[in-house]
Amino acid sequence: METSTVQVEHTDEISTLTISRPESLNALNTDVLQGLILEVEKLQNRSQLRVLVLKGAGSKAFVAGADIHSMHQLGPRAIADYVELGQRAMRAIECFEKPVVAAVDGYALGGGLELALAADLILASSKSKLGQPEVNLGIIPGFGGTQRLLLRCGTGAARRLVLSGDIITAEEGFSLGLVDKVFSDEEFEDHLDKYIATLCSKAPLALQEAKRVLRESQQGQLLSGLRMEVEAFLKLFGTADREEGMEAFLAKREPKFQGR
Ligand code: COA
Repeated sequence: METSTVQVEHTDEISTLTISRPESLNALNTDVLQGLILEVEKLQNRSQLRVLVLKGAGSKAFVAGADIHSMHQLGPRAIADYVELGQRAMRAIECFEKPVVAAVDGYALGGGLELALAADLILASSKSKLGQPEVNLGIIPGFGGTQRLLLRCGTGAARRLVLSGDIITAEEGFSLGLVDKVFSDEEFEDHLDKYIATLCSKAPLALQEAKRVLRESQQGQLLSGLRMEVEAFLKLFGTADREEGMEAFLAKREPKFQGR
């Protein structure tokens, strides 16, 4: 059954999963994360599929992060379940046999950038803004962002993005090796479709093997790094700074962090 927050569309060779919570800029709540896992699992059986595309609904955001509203109230056990669920969703996308394209048209922040990082290719419109702003909330990325940024862009860019929380343009993302292609806003859909059509024309088994080999060669470092990330995230979630960061976001004011 299709969940209402993850919409599925198929053409012959392309399936698109659209995260659809535009009122929250497509923030990742439990429903979306479970929906992603479920739909990705179902797509494993779609033999004609050549490329999976991830999108966000509306014109403003790909995904603006984990859902701060729902996360804010969670107790220790519930937040551990939530972050594990997020990690599983990202890993399901990363391990999907066929190439996955993140079509970023707008904000890809926090969990939104982590979702894009779990894809093979990040294709972005020029208006898009990307970043890991979790330090502004008293936490760090928890869905694999620290590790996948490191593997994708190297330590310099990963440190800069995670420590500063800077939100960067698609062009800057391209210069860091984070974004693979930047297309003009007006022609984004056209260029996207053409690029995906090119991917569909490549030998499917070669793409699958290439994806597997590229992923598995980094697996050891990634899996141990993901564990470390979850532990650090959960430790930070219990701090007063995290409460202050999230309360400040919800009250639309600047946070005052005390380091406790
Ligand atoms: N979780 C839950 N809700 C979110 C959200 C998130 N990550 N990001 C945005 N929203 C909600 C806002 O609360 C707002 O809801 P409201 O209308 O009920 O107040 C709505 O989406 C629109 O966002 P708003 O902040 O008013 O839009 P903006 O254009 O002023 O700013 C952003 C856009 C993306 C810069 C800003 O929403 C933002 O900083 N979001 C959080 C990014 C973040 O920290 N992500 C990491 C989370 S771990």
